[in-house]
Amino acid sequence: MFTTMTLKNISFLLVSLLCLSACDSGDILNQELSTSDLGRTVKLTATMSGVDSWDSKYAVSLAGFVPGDNYAHVVRTLPATTADGSQVELVLSNIDDEVKTVELAITNRLRERIITLARVNLEDYADNPDTIRMDLGHLDVSRFGALQMGLFDMACIQCHGGNGRSAAGLNLTAGQSLGHLVDMPSTSKSDAQRVVSGDAEGSLLHQILNEGGEDILHYNHTEVVSSQFKENLLEVLQLIDDWINKL
Ligand code: HEC
Repeated sequence: MFTTMTLKNISFLLVSLLCLSACDSGDILNQELSTSDLGRTVKLTATMSGVDSWDSKYAVSLAGFVPGDNYAHVVRTLPATTADGSQVELVLSNIDDEVKTVELAITNRLRERIITLARVNLEDYADNPDTIRMDLGHLDVSRFGALQMGLFDMACIQCHGGNGRSAAGLNLTAGQSLGHLVDMPSTSKSDAQRVVSGDAEGSLLHQILNEGGEDILHYNHTEVVSSQFKENLLEVLQLIDDWINKL
């Protein structure tokens, strides 16, 4: 009884003190309540592995982006210690109108987008004010997992898919890509290797995607990536190099 009274008294005192300077009517309380109604809310759920494989410069984030800006406008990041197989929930709220996409992305310390793994366009939900749910199932968000989802699945598998539709015999679908790339000989260019472990610049993959690689093959791959990654091309290319150099 005594404790309860004391707590009540303290909170009454605090409210009174706060009100001395600012409360004339109760507007403050109303404003505080209504901020949660401002903007959209996106809730992501997934079972993730590979979160702890990133060094401290990077984070797995749920981030809101304004078109043309590669720096996240709002962001929530996962703790780097998230263990493999963890059920993960990230909620991004109070997303204002300027933000057009909310993305599961790898970001750096400056909130810069490195690569996007999944995205929702908020305009697709313009008529529905409810919380937008991203239920993504099982995800490998390690460096290679991020390249699979953010690069191969988005920009490559329409030509390098399975079912005998693999240009140059290269299958870049999930589960196949790693074995088709690492230390494998090129079928298009003699003496070249698709990916040379530990040597990005010596890898055909690096050469055909970077500037100057337009004419190495009969198909211009620099154009594929520069049209797909308008705001984060250099970051994606760097991520590929980091992956190869750490093999
Ligand atoms: C529109 C179709 C198309 C898309 C999209 C495409 N490629 Fe290709 N790719 C080709 C063709 C065609 C070749 C074979 C070119 C040749 O033989 O000169 C090729 C060859 C390659 C090779 C060389 C394989 C070898 O063994 O020599 C690599 C590596 C490659 N692509 C990677 C990629 C990556 C990574 C992406 C996504 C960023 C991608 N490609 C997107 C059509 C495509």
